[in-house]
Amino acid sequence: MKDIKKNTEQNETVKIKAPIVEALKVAYENPTYQFHIPGHTKGKAVFKDFKKLIGDKVLNLDTTDEFDNLGTLHPATGPIKEAQELAAEAFGARKTFFLLNGSTAGNLAIAMAFTKPHQKVIVNRNCHRSIITGLMISGAEPIWVCPKRIEDWSIWGNIEAAQIEEQLKNNKDVSLVWITNPTYEGIVSDVKSIAEVCKKYGVPFVVDEAHGCLWNFNKHLPETALKLGADAVVHSLHKTGGSMSQTSMLHIAKNSILDEASVEKALRLLHSTSPSLLLLASLDAARANLMTKTGQKLLDRTISNAKYLRARLDEIPNLHQIKADFGYKTDVTKVFIKIDGLSGKRLESILEIDFGIEVESASDVGVLILCNLGNKRSDFKYLADALEKIASANHKDIYYLEGRKHMPMLEPVIKMSLRDAYYAGKIRIPKAEAIGRISAEVVAECPPGISILLPGELITEAHMPYLNDYETLEVVE
Ligand SMILES: Cc1ncc(COP(=O)(O)O)c(C=O)c1O
Repeated sequence: MKDIKKNTEQNETVKIKAPIVEALKVAYENPTYQFHIPGHTKGKAVFKDFKKLIGDKVLNLDTTDEFDNLGTLHPATGPIKEAQELAAEAFGARKTFFLLNGSTAGNLAIAMAFTKPHQKVIVNRNCHRSIITGLMISGAEPIWVCPKRIEDWSIWGNIEAAQIEEQLKNNKDVSLVWITNPTYEGIVSDVKSIAEVCKKYGVPFVVDEAHGCLWNFNKHLPETALKLGADAVVHSLHKTGGSMSQTSMLHIAKNSILDEASVEKALRLLHSTSPSLLLLASLDAARANLMTKTGQKLLDRTISNAKYLRARLDEIPNLHQIKADFGYKTDVTKVFIKIDGLSGKRLESILEIDFGIEVESASDVGVLILCNLGNKRSDFKYLADALEKIASANHKDIYYLEGRKHMPMLEPVIKMSLRDAYYAGKIRIPKAEAIGRISAEVVAECPPGISILLPGELITEAHMPYLNDYETLEVVE
């Protein structure tokens, strides 16, 4: 929206529409005698303490589609349909679907809509586990592409177009290329080149852009895959876009070779038949907000805060951050740092216990800080001051000293298909006895939900450092 910004400036007086928000307001102001779900009836039958905590108004607004002229989600009608159309326009898509149950629902729908049993799908190994679940449901089989590992940081790097091309050359029957961009830590792949490769081979290309939903709204952020040739894109609006938890969007690109009717069918099967209007309204509101001058200012402020934080961190001895200039393109708002002498886990707990700061996540190496729309400059000052104090305190911790590992960094040895192993007979055995056996379960670290072991994969000695939190594992009998 690098273009919408221009339009908004031209039409400063034009009110940005938010049809679901407006319809919900009308419903709120025109109450009816309610003999339908939800049975708490506008909060009248709710546990007192809960009501006190969240407030009357939220409960009063808690309703589902079909009632009060709010439209329906499947098929999209009324204000919901209009809101999805406005979202498609804002994100630069041909069609946008609102998702409840997060980007997880979007990934499941893509797998159900566009892959079939035994079809091959090229997927990056560090994908979110919802993609794996999707493939287990559809029965398609992944061809893993492993990004380079950035050992110093114990994270995965980007995916190269050449890696995708190699797999497409070697496998003539690939039905989909599906990559994650950016990575959780903000590493960005060259999506344009990957899209060109996919076009060359006539294979549809989907990007899980869960962590990049703001990209179309500010020129200092990377370009969205919707503009770079992807056929479909998933966005977790709730992660960074300002909507409520669980809400996401699935977009079909303007020139997509994928058909939206199949997505609609899959989502109809996956979604609740009682979608929360509050959640849908929050998606509508988040999109509208990003289109207002206030929203754009918030995003500008976010970028400037991220730059401020990064400049402050540069001044701190013993503290290191992943920067755009370390060989990969990055998203400036995702700041992954480490401090000498401290594991990420320990740093996370010092920040939380001593300073009341909660970060997005911690690994064995570092912590991930998200510069959010809602953070003020004073938040970043406080954070930078805290990190300065921690870095100068010369901490030593056992995780750091022992080099224990949390984030999975292994390439898989596949013995059975995902689906066959998931539905095979299973037993749970002590972790140490599981070496040499075939995993029957998804073992993934959350966040970000990247798999250590998947059904059908050989469990090896090399997995053990990543499984500190597991006593037993489920294996194929
Ligand atoms: C890359 C990626 N895709 C999809 C998801 C699932 O998103 P959601 O939590 O919105 O279901 C996540 C969650 O962390 C993710 O990191």
